[in-house]
Amino acid sequence: MKNTKNMIPTIFKTLHVSNQDELGELYKNWDEYESDVIQLAGYVGHLITTEALLRHLKDKEAKILDAGCGTGLVGDILYSKEYKNIVGVDFSKEMLNRALKKNVYESLSLCDLTQKIEFEDNSFDAIVCAGTFTCGHVGPEALNEMIRITKNDGYISFTVRKQEWEASPYEKIIKELERSKLWQQVERYTVKVQHSRGRNLSIMLVSSNQIK
Ligand SMILES: C[S@@+](CC[C@H](N)C(=O)[O-])C[C@H]1O[C@@H](n2cnc3c(N)ncnc32)[C@H](O)[C@@H]1O
Repeated sequence: MKNTKNMIPTIFKTLHVSNQDELGELYKNWDEYESDVIQLAGYVGHLITTEALLRHLKDKEAKILDAGCGTGLVGDILYSKEYKNIVGVDFSKEMLNRALKKNVYESLSLCDLTQKIEFEDNSFDAIVCAGTFTCGHVGPEALNEMIRITKNDGYISFTVRKQEWEASPYEKIIKELERSKLWQQVERYTVKVQHSRGRNLSIMLVSSNQIK
């Protein structure tokens, strides 16, 4: 993978795991997650996904799933903007425990986004998935399940790390979803992420889609 040599070690490791157990161990012990990703690595996934969503979703009562919620950075932003019906899921118990302390989620539960998601069809008005479609984490196949559990006219707003976008069939799967009229793209753009030593570390693509 390109452009990862200057990363802080834990971020580098999460992008180079060989299996989910290894990934789980890294998140389990990552107490400094927020300061590492924001201050050292210039992470903006939580900011750009919520900004993109809130340009379109105006109903403050909307039920929103934060998929791969981690420590709750997305929930924190949504709650501060008075969107308070937020459900968080993550596959790491320890990340969920950190998110719980923020007191901004209606509920938090364990969920592996690479498997069938345990919510009924049309459960959510919107899904935000920040920083979780990335190398060694969750792939584009999860979009099908996300669409299933999102209501018609609902939104899915997510980032994909550039290297992961190029390595996995995002373009193909997204085109297919559009062709099948399962969703339509609302906006899509790339953001350069700058790391504390002034280097451009990665590019995140943010995509916001309306479910048909
Ligand atoms: C880079 S963090 C992003 C967390 C949060 N969304 C944010 O913006 O800070 C990636 C998150 O994805 C979670 N994750 C990784 N693989 C997952 C999977 N298969 N199912 C659910 N969550 C997963 C990790 O536990 C971690 O909390």
